[in-house]
Amino acid sequence: MLKSTGVKKINIAVFISGTGTNLKNLIKCSSKKQSKFKIKLVVSNNTYAKGLKYAKKFKIKKKIINYKNLKNSEIHILHYLNKEKINIICLAGFMKILTANLIKKFKGKIINIHPSLLPKYKGLNTHQRVIDNKEKYSGCTVHYVNPKLDAGKIILQKRVKILKKDTVKKLSKRILTQEHLLYPKALEKIISSL
Ligand code: GRF
Repeated sequence: MLKSTGVKKINIAVFISGTGTNLKNLIKCSSKKQSKFKIKLVVSNNTYAKGLKYAKKFKIKKKIINYKNLKNSEIHILHYLNKEKINIICLAGFMKILTANLIKKFKGKIINIHPSLLPKYKGLNTHQRVIDNKEKYSGCTVHYVNPKLDAGKIILQKRVKILKKDTVKKLSKRILTQEHLLYPKALEKIISSL
C-alpha cells in the first residue's frame, strides 16, 4: 500500500486525441498537495489535438505518435513510457487502439474513461444511441483496458439521468462534468491498491 503522506508520486501518462478536458482536469487534480500522482507525459496520435495546449501550458512533456505503422508506434510509445518511468496510463479521448503487446506490458496499469454505463454502449456515438433508444439513464465509466474495446473490468461508474429535452450536446456536457469528478477518483482508487 502507498502511504498517502509519502512523497513519492505515481507517474502518469495521459493519452489524448482531442479536446483534452479530462487531461486538463487530471493536471489540476495532480497539482493538489495531497495528490498521489503526477502527470509526466502527454501522448497524442494527433498533432492538432486541442488538448495538447495543456501540456504546453503546464510544462508537461508531450509526444506525438505516428500511427501509420502500428509496430513502430508501439516501439516509440514504450520508449517514452520507460524514459519517463510511467507507472499508469490514462486514456482520455484517445481514438487509437493500443497494441496487445503494450497492453500486456502494462497489464492492470492502463485505464480509460468512456461516456456510457458500460457494458452498454461500447464504441462511438454513445450519446446519440442512448437518446435514440430512449434510455432513462446514461453516464460514464472508468475501466481497465484489455485487448477488447471498452470491455475491461469496471473501476467506477456514475449514472446520469436523461432529460426529456436532451440533445447530444446537452447530455454530453452533463456527462463530461461527471467524468471530471469520476476519473481522478478512479485513479486515486487504483493507486491506493498498488
Ligand atoms: C470523453 O467523453 C471521454 O469519455 C471519451 O472521450 C471524451 C474525451 O473528452 N473517451 P476530452 O477530450 O477529455 O474533453
